[in-house]
Amino acid sequence: MSESRAIEATGRVAAIILAAGRGERAGGRDGPKQYRMIGGRAVIARAIEGFAECRSVDAIVVAIHPDDRDLFARAAGAFAGRVSLVEGGPTRQASTLNALRALSERAPEKVLIHDAARPFANHSLIDRVLAAVTSSGGALPVLPVADTIKKSDDSGLVAATVPRSGLFAAQTPQGFPYAAILEAHERAATSKALDFTDDSSIAEWAGMPMRMVEGSPDNVKLTLTREIEMADARLSATGGLPDVRTGNGYDVHAFEAGRAVMLCGIEIPHDRKLSGHSDADVGLHALTDALLATCGAGDIGTHFPPSEPEWRGARSRIFVEYAARLVAERGGRIANADVTLVCEAPRIGPHRPAMVAAMAEMLGIEPGRISVKATTNEGMGFIGRGEGIAAFATVSVVFPGGLS
Ligand code: CTP
Ligand code: MG
Repeated sequence: MSESRAIEATGRVAAIILAAGRGERAGGRDGPKQYRMIGGRAVIARAIEGFAECRSVDAIVVAIHPDDRDLFARAAGAFAGRVSLVEGGPTRQASTLNALRALSERAPEKVLIHDAARPFANHSLIDRVLAAVTSSGGALPVLPVADTIKKSDDSGLVAATVPRSGLFAAQTPQGFPYAAILEAHERAATSKALDFTDDSSIAEWAGMPMRMVEGSPDNVKLTLTREIEMADARLSATGGLPDVRTGNGYDVHAFEAGRAVMLCGIEIPHDRKLSGHSDADVGLHALTDALLATCGAGDIGTHFPPSEPEWRGARSRIFVEYAARLVAERGGRIANADVTLVCEAPRIGPHRPAMVAAMAEMLGIEPGRISVKATTNEGMGFIGRGEGIAAFATVSVVFPGGLS
């Protein structure tokens, strides 16, 4: 009991972001690539953001070059206060080891290791990797190799064509059980095995099984100046502004004989119930429509036709969770959700905190990003006559890399 609390308090998942390189292949002239601007923000700020906004990540350590402290403070902006800094080393491998050692007090269960030069890792990718990490095995995102691969001889002629079936390109973040990857890194350093270019290869060398999960084509590594320019152009297509979308939803249900109503995920005793195919939770139906609207994904009826018996009596949180997953799969992060209930009765006020908590859980966001409001219709119209309840919902979603 006390042990599980201790783990909770120190956090189970840490992320390491490697940013101590000099970016020589991108031409050092404009400074290390991780501090260059793409779409109006520094590469490293975007790389940190993916982890800072991911609920599964409890702590972030960034390895930087000792010369880059000012560059980092300027580039990281508000994120500077949310990460710990550690000095990098002369190689990527050395920088990683320093960062891993810096986590030894915290001793997280799992650690993610990521290149600052990949600014487009989003939280669905991060969660996919984390989900595949076990107590003894790691995981990494990969993409099947699309180009035909050639091996060259010393004179620049093709020596062989390498069959590409079964070949994958490795991305980061790569995830590991913390204690095991720290030990593998320490052992590699002591054995003078120093030419690893990613952490999976160190884990493989140490005998740790590595699970491959689906990478993301958006998750490119910026190596050459041209790649940085292309990333900048892609982001600037939205005028450098983040792609923020707002969705709106409306629903209404009539009362019928019953003993309780479901509203925003909470059962409220009442002298009637709402009529509908599912549990008739009018607030969650409006919320589902608002979520779907942020990515042009139709409405609740498109995905859950009332003609299908499967949804008879279904709990409406299923619809909300489905829509939230769809938003996440398209690269979105929910910024806030707001529901207004319009009814003469029951009274909503006493149930508001429970509703907020229930919706926060369904959407996977903090309660502070949720609002529930209620109003009567001043006795007017069908709502005023107590014939039913109406609900309006508004949701804002940020799509950092654009809607995918
Ligand atoms: N890295 C690091 N410490 C080093 C070398 C690299 O933390 N001593 C980091 C880089 O900052 C980068 C990541 O490891 O985010 C991947 O390395 P790479 O793309 O090779 O970046 P650089 O080493 O900076 O670039 P180059 O090899 O072109 O100099
Ligand atoms: Mg390098």
